[in-house]
Amino acid sequence: MLPTSLLRAFLLAATATLGTARPSWPHFTVGQEHVEVLSMRAAMPLNPAAVYDVTCVDASLRIVFHDENVAQLSICGGISGSNTRCAGGPQSTEAQSASAKFTLAPVTPGAVLNISKVRWEQCVRAARAICPTGSMAGTCRGGASNGDVKFSLEKP
Ligand SMILES: *[C@@H]1O[C@H](CO)[C@@H](O)[C@H](O)[C@H]1NC(C)=O
Repeated sequence: MLPTSLLRAFLLAATATLGTARPSWPHFTVGQEHVEVLSMRAAMPLNPAAVYDVTCVDASLRIVFHDENVAQLSICGGISGSNTRCAGGPQSTEAQSASAKFTLAPVTPGAVLNISKVRWEQCVRAARAICPTGSMAGTCRGGASNGDVKFSLEKP
């Protein structure tokens, strides 16, 4: 039979484990963007043609889905809410949130970014269908003033 003190220690350890395993929501600091991405994912059909030249760089890197969503909506200074495309015609953009960092640039020299939120979302979604986890790179079809847009997703 187990000594009571040992049993008590076991129960304490089990309780502590349960405590840390509890889901850590609410993470509502970025609610608007997060809800927006999730609703787009639910509504938008997968369009495999939205991306090409996809490389799964390191599938073992743990890029947190939530971070990826936030970074995804933070390109070009933010494309959530009423911004429906990359504004201001930048030559490149970077967007980072914790474990996720996107970098985008037009393929065609001299072109500027003009990617719409829908096109960008379709591009990342199609790339994630090929590379479900980790870092990746690819080319979104269209999305620049002229031609396509190269992107990478890294863990910074
Ligand atoms: C960006 O795309 C919009 C919609 O297609 C277009 O009206 C606008 O002229 C484009 N801007 C640039 C700089 O290409």
